[in-house]
Amino acid sequence: MIKIAPSVLSADILNMERDVNKMLEGGADWIHVDIMDGHFVPNLSYGPSLVEALHKRYPEVPLDVHLMMDNPQYYIDRFARSGASVLTIHAELHADISDTLRRIRARGMMSSIALRPGTPAESIRGYLPLLDMVLVMTVEPGFGGQPFNAGMATKVAEIRKMGYTGLIEVDGGVSVKNLPYLRELGVDVAVMGNSLFTSEDPLGDMEKIHQM
Ligand code: DX5
Ligand code: ZN
Repeated sequence: MIKIAPSVLSADILNMERDVNKMLEGGADWIHVDIMDGHFVPNLSYGPSLVEALHKRYPEVPLDVHLMMDNPQYYIDRFARSGASVLTIHAELHADISDTLRRIRARGMMSSIALRPGTPAESIRGYLPLLDMVLVMTVEPGFGGQPFNAGMATKVAEIRKMGYTGLIEVDGGVSVKNLPYLRELGVDVAVMGNSLFTSEDPLGDMEKIHQM
């Protein structure tokens, strides 16, 4: 069954609890939290305090934390203490990626790497044994509500061809319309922002997705 990870970037920040409750009532499996530093991506969002608050309120819900920031290696402990379950760093970083992934696992979190649309699948081949998840970006990271880039979907198949058997997540413009195709290619986790938070029937959408 495909896991659904609603992205709180599309939630009403002053009604975060109301919006997250709605997603969880609809059967959301994880909650996706986008951390942006205004440097790695041209947008700012929030920091580990939101992860901590969500973890206190929903201790049973896995928090899928997507770090769109430079130097994530300095924040691994902070996100671990805040209650992150999955920590995603970007493949394009000028940092010791292998060491960072090892440290994420050593702190008891799932390790994950994200690929911007321009980053080839091949670039992560060497990291595959260190990964619990690969995040294929289907938009340029930084903003919710962008159109889905179908060309990126082939990366999912390429990563599977490399023999990778861990989780694959897609993020960016994902909706109940493009998910059947993504599912066929081998996607396990769907991050969904605008398409769920602006849907007239998010519960119905999630039910359909879980039946795919
Ligand atoms: C974009 C973020 C996404 C975003 C997805 O940079 O990584 O998680 O919230 O939002 P939608 O689904 O609206 O494209
Ligand atoms: Zn994201």
